[in-house]
Amino acid sequence: MPRLSQEFMDNLRATCEVERVIGEYVALRQRGKNLVGLCPFHGEKTASFTVFPETQSYYCFGCGAGGDIINFVSKIENLDYIDAAKFLAERAGIQVPVENEYDSEAYAQKRKSVLELNKEAANFFFKSLRSPLGKEAVEYIKKRKLKTETINKFALGYAPASWNALCDHLKSKGYSLELAREAGLCAANKNGGYYDVFRDRLMFPIIDVRGNVIAFGGRVIKKDEIPKYLNSPDTPVFKKSKNLFSLNNAKGTKDFLILAEGYMDVIALYQAGFKNAVATLGTAITPEQALLMSRYVSEVVICYDADEAGKKATDRAIDILSKTGIKVKVLRISGGKDPDEFIKEYGADKFAALLNGSGNKTEYRLADIRGRFNLELPDDRLSYLKECAAVLAGLNSPIERDLYAGRLADELAVAKTAILSEVTAIEKSMWRKTKSKDINDAQNHSFARDDRVNPEKKRSLQAAKAEECILSTLFYNIDMYPSISSEISKEKFVTSFNAKLYGLFLEIIAEGGVLDTMSLGQYLNEGEMSAFIAIISKQELNIPSMDTMLECKRVLEEYKRKQTIKAVSDIDSKTLENFIRKIDK
Ligand code: CTP
Ligand code: MN
Repeated sequence: MPRLSQEFMDNLRATCEVERVIGEYVALRQRGKNLVGLCPFHGEKTASFTVFPETQSYYCFGCGAGGDIINFVSKIENLDYIDAAKFLAERAGIQVPVENEYDSEAYAQKRKSVLELNKEAANFFFKSLRSPLGKEAVEYIKKRKLKTETINKFALGYAPASWNALCDHLKSKGYSLELAREAGLCAANKNGGYYDVFRDRLMFPIIDVRGNVIAFGGRVIKKDEIPKYLNSPDTPVFKKSKNLFSLNNAKGTKDFLILAEGYMDVIALYQAGFKNAVATLGTAITPEQALLMSRYVSEVVICYDADEAGKKATDRAIDILSKTGIKVKVLRISGGKDPDEFIKEYGADKFAALLNGSGNKTEYRLADIRGRFNLELPDDRLSYLKECAAVLAGLNSPIERDLYAGRLADELAVAKTAILSEVTAIEKSMWRKTKSKDINDAQNHSFARDDRVNPEKKRSLQAAKAEECILSTLFYNIDMYPSISSEISKEKFVTSFNAKLYGLFLEIIAEGGVLDTMSLGQYLNEGEMSAFIAIISKQELNIPSMDTMLECKRVLEEYKRKQTIKAVSDIDSKTLENFIRKIDK
């Protein structure tokens, strides 16, 4: 892994406090000397994500994610380690070290080349659509009622029905086809040659907010060919789970975004004047995409197809979006149409009316439940009421609960107080369930992580605990370094992960470096970093007494001695004889 300069890290330490950096992404509240919030890396209802100002680190007791600020930014912004450090530095106004100091320079160069290549490909598709080759494709989009202006705005193109049209073009422009393969545009055949991935398709370039062409979607123009859509795979410049179609057009146009299912929906919406529409890229919405939206707007209107699959997707999107704190509304289109078909049939004004009438997520859920019951039947009335009460139990605001309980009371002619006490009863049982689930999750995660990062821990629990005690004590009490290091050598350690950490601690201190989470972050991968933070977050391990250290040392020595006896008893008598003879000499 590339290294950051000491001076640069000192500057980062001085200007970026963990609570401020993380506070920009997560709503934190004080708990004792630490801060807590909802973990941005996994879904949770009770706050187990903890920020430790003292060690400038964070740790989630739910999913086991943990690290320093660079590691946090790297995960949340999807940047590699060095880029995350640069990102922080730029925002803090710190001098960023010159590019070529880093190994990742090569990768940055690759990304740049892929972007250039993508741009050239987009250009080629664009021209092909407007050439005789693109005649059928043009007829197809005209049939779908797209205006020339819209086609140009989205830079739509056409991939000719050929195995090598793009390959030949890129080659003639001096591009390496191996690079085109990494960009997902070409594939390698058995004979070491390359062929075009997108053939006879209408091409939708995917453009990021900076205007880079990062990927493509391609739709068949002949009916019944499969797959209907083909999308770029993940490449050095594209992660489909972290980008949104048309965010470049949508950003800054309104204070809310419309989330649609498909490329054509977004384009039809744009043409009808709804420029703030975006879509995911052939997958269900991810937490990263929700986070991305929450950076641009405070409200999202979900506008998915009205079929069963669309409904499921809507429920999922409500959950994921709500977790970012974004306000969610749902627009319901009746008659099984998608937004594109609806606008074509009824026009933009009717769609605007639907948009105005879109309810918040509670109204959507209640209306959805309502649709499944016949309120003439007493059994149905009761089931309807129970299901609605469960929805209300999920609301935090008493005012909101009261409001909807009132509406239900009127609708069903029952007392509002009866509904509210039902809601409270459900809430109590739900709370018990989530609480025990969170605790379970936390335990499973920490066991799973220990297994991966420190597989020996399971077999040598006592020894591993003693090691962790030494690590934690040294970490918080550098003044004990001379006595600890002279008493306990790295070789005393039993588990290799803890030995590695101890070795790093000693090395960093010996070199006169700062022993903190940031300096360790350079040497550890994500899983190791989490495991390290978990160790130093267990305050009970930090016992600044030399007696305790000696006790830990004894535990380790005892463990090694037992291992030796066991090893000796395992060997046959002949070897043992030789062994003893050697010792005697
Ligand atoms: N999709 C995909 N692969 C498929 C089918 C769909 O990636 N085989 C993605 C595309 O991003 C598409 C979205 O899912 O835009 C929605 O699919 P669908 O509703 O089938 O397509 P529409 O957007 O309605 O496209 P069209 O109107 O052109 O049929
Ligand atoms: Mn459609």
